[in-house]
Amino acid sequence: MSKKIIIDTDPAMGTKGGDPEDCFAIMLAMNSPELEILGITTVQGNVPVERGYSNAKYLVKEFNKDIPVHTGSPGTYDAERNKKRSWLAEREGMEQITPILKPSPEEISAPSFIAKTCRENSQDIEIVTIGPLTNIAHALDEEPELAKHIKKITMMAGAAKIPGNVTPAAEFNIWADPESAEKVFRSGIDFTLVPLDVCHQTKFSRDQLNTIGDNSHPLCKFVYESVKPWIQINPNQNIIDQGLHLYDSLAMALSFKPDLAEFKDAFVTVETKGEYTDGETVCEFNESIMGQVFKPEPNAKVALDIDVEGFNRLFEERVLNYLINL
Ligand code: RIB
Ligand code: CA
Repeated sequence: MSKKIIIDTDPAMGTKGGDPEDCFAIMLAMNSPELEILGITTVQGNVPVERGYSNAKYLVKEFNKDIPVHTGSPGTYDAERNKKRSWLAEREGMEQITPILKPSPEEISAPSFIAKTCRENSQDIEIVTIGPLTNIAHALDEEPELAKHIKKITMMAGAAKIPGNVTPAAEFNIWADPESAEKVFRSGIDFTLVPLDVCHQTKFSRDQLNTIGDNSHPLCKFVYESVKPWIQINPNQNIIDQGLHLYDSLAMALSFKPDLAEFKDAFVTVETKGEYTDGETVCEFNESIMGQVFKPEPNAKVALDIDVEGFNRLFEERVLNYLINL
């Protein structure tokens, strides 16, 4: 039986210069019989909300899928934080390839969709988050019993034992909205963290992109045009030549094939008050001195190692080969 999920995402494939990788994760989900996607909700992150919403709608249409898409509002969960992250809602200069679409006035918001769908599928639904946690935090306000309805959230988020990627302390999805992450981590919802530690073991190469670009199918051209600028501007010097990390695709894969990873229980919190460490995920595996003394109850499973070849095979079979053979 397939697993019912909602995908919460900040998809930028369709916006030149945005991180396009969420869309590979969505493609993986759409091509995986293990998953039944009840909806896609979009959040501010890689791109402003109107662009993410439009990119998600475009992809769903190209795949001929009947999956509802709902957008969150611009801004972070906390108004004060929003002043510091205001540029996330801006970035007007980015070239948009997909047409900008606006939700109809009667369309419900992403948080309302999450709250309603989880209520209606209580204990039979999971969420895969591959962007900041703003929509989930708002959904918790709308439905305080949300934790009882959701079986689990698998989230691409954080860095457990290594530095961050957007600052030395923080990973992008958490840094973009630390207060929402704090609210979700404390909510009682079971969650699995797929942090940079394991995501950095994955790679999407320039050669793979070129192979997609060799196919003249419009969807392949679209993927090629969207991904090429990101490979060029990505500031991580180590991966410029080899390609990109498949952060979100890995989280998606682990949501239905957890045997591809090894997990460890941890009490996971987030720094919201640090001057230099805002958005840092602090993972207590009860291995520190204080952890051994106070033994905080774990609230998460954290992926610390993966079967890279197994993941690559899955990605190749369900995303790469699908595109190449269109
Ligand atoms: O830090 C990696 C995360 O932020 C991923 O979800 C990716 O989409 C990115 O920009
Ligand atoms: Ca993402």
